[in-house]
Parts: sequence; C-alpha cells; structure tokens
Amino acid sequence: MDNNIIGKSKVRAFTNIALVKYWGKKNEGLILPQNGSISLTLDHFYSETEVIFDSSLKKDEIYFNNERVEDNKIVNFLNILRNKADNDNFCIVKTVNTVPTSAGLASSSSGFAALAAASSKAIGMNLSNMEISKLARRGSGSATRSIYGGLVEWIPGTNDKNSYAQPLSYDKKLDLNLITVILNRNEKKISSRYGMKSSVETSPYYDVWIKQANEDLKNMKMAIKKNDFTSLGRITETNAMRMHSLTLSADPSFTYFNEDTLKTINLVKDLREQGLECYFTIDAGPNVKILCQDKNTNKIMKKLLLHFKHSDLVINHPGPGIQFIY
Ligand code: DP6
Repeated sequence: MDNNIIGKSKVRAFTNIALVKYWGKKNEGLILPQNGSISLTLDHFYSETEVIFDSSLKKDEIYFNNERVEDNKIVNFLNILRNKADNDNFCIVKTVNTVPTSAGLASSSSGFAALAAASSKAIGMNLSNMEISKLARRGSGSATRSIYGGLVEWIPGTNDKNSYAQPLSYDKKLDLNLITVILNRNEKKISSRYGMKSSVETSPYYDVWIKQANEDLKNMKMAIKKNDFTSLGRITETNAMRMHSLTLSADPSFTYFNEDTLKTINLVKDLREQGLECYFTIDAGPNVKILCQDKNTNKIMKKLLLHFKHSDLVINHPGPGIQFIY
C-alpha cells in the first residue's frame, strides 16, 4: 500500500481577521480582489491539514474533523494544484479545525492556507511562501494572508502572478489583542462568496467602497508605522461598518448582524466611554471581534463576562505564519 504513496505533508495555519476588509472580486475565477486588505493573524484558532497523494486512489477523499465529506471547493482547488504540478494523482485530505466553521471566524482563511502548503509539498512542489500565498488565494481570498504571522497585507494585483500577501513590518511594542466574542457557532446563511458578489453587482455604493477602502488601507499603514493604536482601531471599526453597509444597500439587502451583534457594538462603545480603549470589527457572520491592548484586556474581559459566558470569549494575540509539521 505504502508503495503507492507519492508524498505527504501536514501543516498548521492560523486564521486571520481583516482590519481593512476584502469584500469583492474583480476576477472570480482567479480570486483577484477589488481592493487591497490588511489583517492580523491570530494565535488561537487554526486548521491542521494532512495531505497524502496516493497513486492507487480513484478520487480525492476529504475528511473534515474525522468525518468523510464531499467538498467541491476543495476538489476544485486540488484540480488547480494538479494542473500547476502537471500531476494527475488523487489524494487524501484530513483537516481538523479549531475554528467554528463558516461562522465569520475566518475558518476558510486557515483552511486553505494549510491545504495550499500541505498539498503543494505532498505533490512534490517546493514553493516559496509567496508562491504558497498565491496558491492559497485560489481556494479562498482571505487564505492568501494566513501564510504569514502578525500584520499582513494582501497586494491586490492584476493577475494570478502578482496578487499575493506579504508581512507588514511593525514595532513589536504595538501591542494588539483581539477578543473574539462568539455569539453564534452555526454556519452562516449567506456565504462571503455570495455576499460579496451580490454587493459588487447590486450595491450602488460599491464604487465608493473601493475608493474608501484604498484610503483606509493607506491610513492603516500609516497608523501601523506610527505605532498609533487609536488610529488603527478607529480605521478598523469604520472600515468594517463601511463593508457591512454594502450588504444593507445590496438588492436584495441582507445583513450578517443579529441582535446580539448590535448589543455588542453598543457595549464596545460604552466601554470606550468608560475609558477602556477598544474597537470592534465584524466579518461575514454575527460574531464580534474586539481589538484592545494588554493594559486593558483583563478589565475589558471582566466587563464582557457580565454579558457573555467565559467559553464564548477568546483572547488572541498576534499569531504565527504556517508551520510544516512534516
Ligand atoms: C469579510 O476569503 O471567505 O472575512 O475569497 O470568496 O473565499 P472567498 O471569500 P473569503 O472572504 C473574506 C471576507 C471577510 C473580509 C476579509 O477577510 O478580508
């Protein structure tokens, strides 16, 4: 049996949360974004993916948290890889996620980053991080950024070769904590893929979004350079709300917020009024992420615990890039 094994690899990749969001593609096949984005890789949630290419397999076998699943997105991704590697063998993919899947906690970012790194190594390609970032992009846009740790920028580019992420250098004194408030662990009803497509095609504000997101990106880079947490937090919060205004202005309109999302937004504003500096961001799901700094994290947690269960609050710090286990 082992004689049929062509190669195997196992990789751990951490999720990332965008501080300046990617929301819309200019090329859906290649997953080229309309605008650049900046994210923070987290240290708490990750995906671990093992890939084994085996010449005796008749089709890909995909296991998710130890259960066999059919997953077109993964098979499409593996077809892209086989094409690039000029190798038509199938593989076994086993993924274990510590992230609640598809709940706006960026499970696809860590999932496709781990898959891109493990599958390319297992098929015999020896890719640089930049090449892995481009490959991960073909699975899911946000995965482009999970190749690297800390703060990361995705350069939008214009084609398959020049759209990739790179780490942003920053002063390690810029201490960043991100508390995830898990309001709902269920799979979201509207995927980010569909949600952003609908925003691009139907929101009359979409062109303004691109212009503003580029401005937010420029200002965010300046804030990072100046080690200016206040500006970084404010841009994070306004950029998130600008993204969500695209869902409200789409036709038909939709929202990822639920009542608890709105309550948590108000809570963050109250905390700020009480002198505890913190800012929120929200992705394609109801869960809220709160940016703060070491000096306030425990005090903020204490206040949050008056409203949420301990098990629904997770403190994250900047996390690492992809890690090859073998
Ligand atoms: C709101 O990367 O999940 O998290 O490229 O279609 O797979 P696809 O979308 P995905 O979208 C992420 C959207 C976001 C913002 C962000 O991560 O930048």
